Amino acid sequence: MTHSITLTKPDDWHLHFRDGAALQTVVPHTARQFSRAIVMPNLSPPVTNVDAALAYRHRILSALNAESRFDPLMTLYLTDDMDPNEINKAKASGHIPAAKLYPAGATTNSAHGVTNIKNVYGILERMQTMGMVLCVHGEVTATDIDIFDREAAFIDQVLSPLLQDFPKLKVVFEHITTTQAAQFVASGPAQLAATITPQHLLYNRNEIFRGGIRPHFYCLPILKREPHRLSLLNAAASGSGKFFLGTDSAPHTSERKETSCGCAGCYSGFHALELYATAFESVGKLHQLEGFASFFGADFYGLPRNKETITLLNQSLQIPDSFAYLEDELIPLASGETLNWSLQSPNPL
Ligand code: DOR
Ligand code: ZN
Repeated sequence: MTHSITLTKPDDWHLHFRDGAALQTVVPHTARQFSRAIVMPNLSPPVTNVDAALAYRHRILSALNAESRFDPLMTLYLTDDMDPNEINKAKASGHIPAAKLYPAGATTNSAHGVTNIKNVYGILERMQTMGMVLCVHGEVTATDIDIFDREAAFIDQVLSPLLQDFPKLKVVFEHITTTQAAQFVASGPAQLAATITPQHLLYNRNEIFRGGIRPHFYCLPILKREPHRLSLLNAAASGSGKFFLGTDSAPHTSERKETSCGCAGCYSGFHALELYATAFESVGKLHQLEGFASFFGADFYGLPRNKETITLLNQSLQIPDSFAYLEDELIPLASGETLNWSLQSPNPL
């Protein structure tokens, strides 16, 4: 029986922090577990330029103690009319390693996203030249495509041609959810990698409907069938440097989740590592967790691996029922359940 595992401190390569008072709740949760995080730009209004990204970064850091060494890595939200020079400015800032492609209408605050990939070919050309990473929400938005097929359709319609047209552009296929995506990435070029969330490793789509409709298991891309979950687990624990940790932790108030038209997003910012450890342990692959959580993302982004460590204890963690959040509550993924792993505390921030 393993009693503890010590890992190089991990990074979260896909995260939503929101803004304003929300930061007080969610930023310390993430900084406790991770050294760095790729921060998504889908605020309202979206983060479409360097000045906005750097101001947002400053607000994130203001939610932490002065001694914190947490480093928010910012992203720009691509729009049809973005000026390519913004890419050069982003690169020069030293704090913005990536830009995010949201197909318009794909998810939360994506209304300003890209309406046709060809509209941003000039930007992608510049990103390829400057060595900036493209993070992709990989779902088509056509309403006649079944919600469970949107990721697979995106591979054929958008991602395959894009990789051919930009053979040197580094692309992260974010939060993959299907066997097709896992296979496409595994067999794809070295410029292509993927992040995987804890919810897609732990749950299949039954979880959304177990005993009634359970909005805190609703995220986008939506949970898929069990064979897809198994493919993702296999990919994450394979030791391949093409798959790495990205929680897609996406806080919403319980009021906005538990309603007639609820928001997509699972909150895992508090307990992501314990969730990932649970998933890896379920297939006897805890020894592959460090590569997935702490090495492969940094290597892909061309950033140094972290030097600090964290320790997970083989001690039970009861996931809180909720956190106080924006005059309301934030319900974490798997709230109230017990996991076998808990992060040793206190950890250096
Ligand atoms: O479930 C999701 N929530 N998927 C996304 O792509 C966006 C995110 C959010 O921002 O709420
Ligand atoms: Zn996301």
